[in-house]
Amino acid sequence: MINSIVILGIQWGDEGKGKIVDLLSENSNYVVRYQGGNNAGHTLLVNKKKTVLHLIPSCVLHKDVIAVLGNGVVVSLTDLVNEIVSLKKKGIFIQNRLILSSSIPLIFEYHIKLDKARECNLLNKSVIGTTHKGIGPAYEDKISRRAIRINDLYYSDYFYKILKKNVKYYNFTLKNLYQTKTVDFKKIFNKTMIAFKKVKHMIQDVSCLLNNKIDKNKKIIFEGAQGSLLDIDHGTYPYVSSSNSSIGGVITGTGVGIKKIKYILGVSKTYCTRVGNGPFPTEIFDDMSKYLCKKGKEFGTTTGRKRRIGWLDLFLLKKMILINSLSGLCLTKMDVLDFLPEIKICIKYLDKNSNQEISSYPMTIQSWKNIIPVYKIFKGWNKSTRGITSFAELPIEAQHYINYIQSFLNISIDLISTGPNRHETIIISKFLKKFIK
Ligand code: GDP
Ligand code: IMO
Ligand code: MG
Repeated sequence: MINSIVILGIQWGDEGKGKIVDLLSENSNYVVRYQGGNNAGHTLLVNKKKTVLHLIPSCVLHKDVIAVLGNGVVVSLTDLVNEIVSLKKKGIFIQNRLILSSSIPLIFEYHIKLDKARECNLLNKSVIGTTHKGIGPAYEDKISRRAIRINDLYYSDYFYKILKKNVKYYNFTLKNLYQTKTVDFKKIFNKTMIAFKKVKHMIQDVSCLLNNKIDKNKKIIFEGAQGSLLDIDHGTYPYVSSSNSSIGGVITGTGVGIKKIKYILGVSKTYCTRVGNGPFPTEIFDDMSKYLCKKGKEFGTTTGRKRRIGWLDLFLLKKMILINSLSGLCLTKMDVLDFLPEIKICIKYLDKNSNQEISSYPMTIQSWKNIIPVYKIFKGWNKSTRGITSFAELPIEAQHYINYIQSFLNISIDLISTGPNRHETIIISKFLKKFIK
């Protein structure tokens, strides 16, 4: 029996994936990140203690669970070591239960410098609003076959040679194209080798490992970072991150076969947020936006930026359910909607010029600008849902709101999160109840 599941975001990130992975991984064997890097920020709240993770999977609070980074993840070794050390200071020991794929492409200082230089260039009219972690440039290196991968560091002479070549290439670009400071080859080489010594024992063939463990019926969670609307192929391009944060990333980013996945859970907030620039049809700017931002504590975990706020968009969710082949849905932040007089949900888009309904997902920046969202308005519930753990206990208006989403999207809502703490959750799916045990 296959026992591996995927948990991924289906909006623009920050849907609450970390909390859900922490909850569902209590009795799992492996939790695997398959894409992205330390642009992610996942917050866990357990026994009043907050743990923030960027690169390391959200299972760290369960001491018997092994954390894995697949080949699809991009890693700054110095940042990885810093994250391990900062967890250690909090009493969370991960160094002997973290596995790194031998083909992870590395992020170096020149990627970060280039990311920042592009984003801060006043002539750049289409700033993405990246996290400045060097993610885009690192994936560019991978695709252009220039990346230095973690297993290259076993051969220090070879690493020396290819790093020198890359530093030369990037310094030319930084200096001549962006008139910005160059990087120091020697410093990067030394810092990387020091960090490598600390993580060398973690390196393995992750594809073989996971395929074998799945065959032995081990419980495995694949943890998505970002959200499907930030996917490089299926998101709101070019305002996206540079990896496949939708389902395809699991396969390419770990080397696990598609038939080895049993269940795919899509995580969505009951409203919408986005950090950085790009299309956001249901975005709101009024007092409601300020209210939801404050109540939902909508500030980025990685950069501290205020998240943009909007109503739930079922038009986009429908498409994200389709591309990810979702088995079930998890709705988070139910409690943030408590005490609102009314709640809006976008159910379709109209074309600004023709006033006709739009049937296909907009593919260009111009087409996103022509959208008018159409809303269905729900009566709010004048009660707190915070911490509720059974569906029947939810106010009737909240049940009605969830049932509407479920039937509109034609997918089962398997989990509802009613607060940031681990157990402030309604687990509806029998399969997930069993998976946790
Ligand atoms: P991720 O990137 O998808 O893991 O999400 P983040 O951790 O960046 O952002 C989600 C935030 O919402 C975190 O601060 C969580 O503690 C918090 N959170 C998660 N679920 C809930 C919920 O149901 N209610 C409330 N109020 N907060 C939640
Ligand atoms: P988690 O895993 C929200 C956004 C950035 C920017 C765009 C590209 O916490 O959900 P990048 O640095 O990746 O090149 O930036 O993607 N972004 C995220 N937004 N949550 C994230 O991760 C994000 N990771 C990247 O804000 O708009
Ligand atoms: Mg986040």
